[in-house]
Amino acid sequence: MSTTQRIKGFADMFPPESDAFTRMENTGREIFARYGFVELRTPILEFTELFQRSIGEETDVVQKEMYTFPDSRGRLMTLRPEATAGVMRAYAESGLAGREGVSRLFSCGPMFRHERPQKGRLRQFHQINCECLGSASPFADAELISMLLHFFRALRLSGLTLNINSLGCAVCRPHFREALLRYLQSLDPAALCEDCSRRMHTNPLRVLDCKQASCRAVVEGAPRLLDSICPDCAEHFSTVQKLLDRQGHAFALDHRLVRGLDYYCRTTFEVVSSQIGAQTAVAGGGRYDGLVKSLGGPDVPGVGFACGMERLALLLDAPSPAPLDFYLVALEEEGGLQGHALAQTLREAGLRGEMNFSRASWKSLMRQAGKSGARYCLILGPDETARGDIVVKNLESGEQNTLGQDTVCHFLQTGTIHD
Ligand code: HAM
Repeated sequence: MSTTQRIKGFADMFPPESDAFTRMENTGREIFARYGFVELRTPILEFTELFQRSIGEETDVVQKEMYTFPDSRGRLMTLRPEATAGVMRAYAESGLAGREGVSRLFSCGPMFRHERPQKGRLRQFHQINCECLGSASPFADAELISMLLHFFRALRLSGLTLNINSLGCAVCRPHFREALLRYLQSLDPAALCEDCSRRMHTNPLRVLDCKQASCRAVVEGAPRLLDSICPDCAEHFSTVQKLLDRQGHAFALDHRLVRGLDYYCRTTFEVVSSQIGAQTAVAGGGRYDGLVKSLGGPDVPGVGFACGMERLALLLDAPSPAPLDFYLVALEEEGGLQGHALAQTLREAGLRGEMNFSRASWKSLMRQAGKSGARYCLILGPDETARGDIVVKNLESGEQNTLGQDTVCHFLQTGTIHD
């Protein structure tokens, strides 16, 4: 280990990826605001119990993937593996439920899961997360899914598939769970992978989304959730589909879509891409009506989603950075003094530019100006500083003019010489 080595699964982010992240955040802010969302920033560190109680003790996230450690008083703390739990805690703790009918909260930032790193899977990754709290209506589910697809269109993403399912509710899911368990117990015990042989007793629904070929084959013959949900859940799901249909959103019903976190009920959904390798899900979410109550808050229904920003970045065109307007080459001490003040004036007027810090030769400074990609090189030599002038060279055409220093700003902004 060396002090200049980063931790496995933790990435540094330079342009163009960091530019892509800024674009996603700004686009998200703009689109989500149109639906009434406001930004909530929650801490990265929470008490471990929050995640155990919300995500579920039997999930892979809680069992294997959390970064958990005791603080100096021995209390267990965890780096958040997802945003929903913290948002629910903040919602309950702030008393927002008593003040607002429906709360729409958007968050983004780093999450931490100790998974095996690969393309599109990191140990520190970033999510854009939206939660709509306070409505049990299927209109809330459909509006949220439409907003997610709107966000993806605004980012000019294509080739994405929306998969949806219903997990039923506290009334009908236990019946399905029993039917599924009976089916799994009727199989040859060797038919399931090691994880699923265990999960079958703790969380049998998770067997449905196991990626192992043997389990996938077994699941083909398993009972299906949609065949056993109660009339209320069926009506809810049918309205969600009708609303998506009316908007012309294509979707596929995926009876294996149970999601890896325990708080979901009724609608679940994922958006997948076939262009980013094995980790195909760019966003996932669903309804979680009992969650806030289970954490000790009010009985408030909710629905939400999170997008994986690293995976979306793989799909975004690299944004081309805006070129610098000027590179100022200042010679000798007086050139440096005048150039420093002038460059500052130009930037405060909205222009983008750099100036040389080193006292290199004129030739090497001109080379640096060329490399900077700036539109114009501004040259302040001894003759110019004595007269209050500046040489302005168009680095593309090579055309050169001498202007008064007080007119260069106007020239850079408009391309015309001020008389
Ligand atoms: P999730 O499906 O666990 O859901 O994660 C959402 C998205 O985060 C995934 O679709 C994926 O794009 C990204 N993601 C997850 N793990 C990683 C990783 N290790 N590396 C890179 N990207 C990753 C949730 O987290 C729920 N809290 C979503 C939600 C919000 N449900 C309701 N509200």
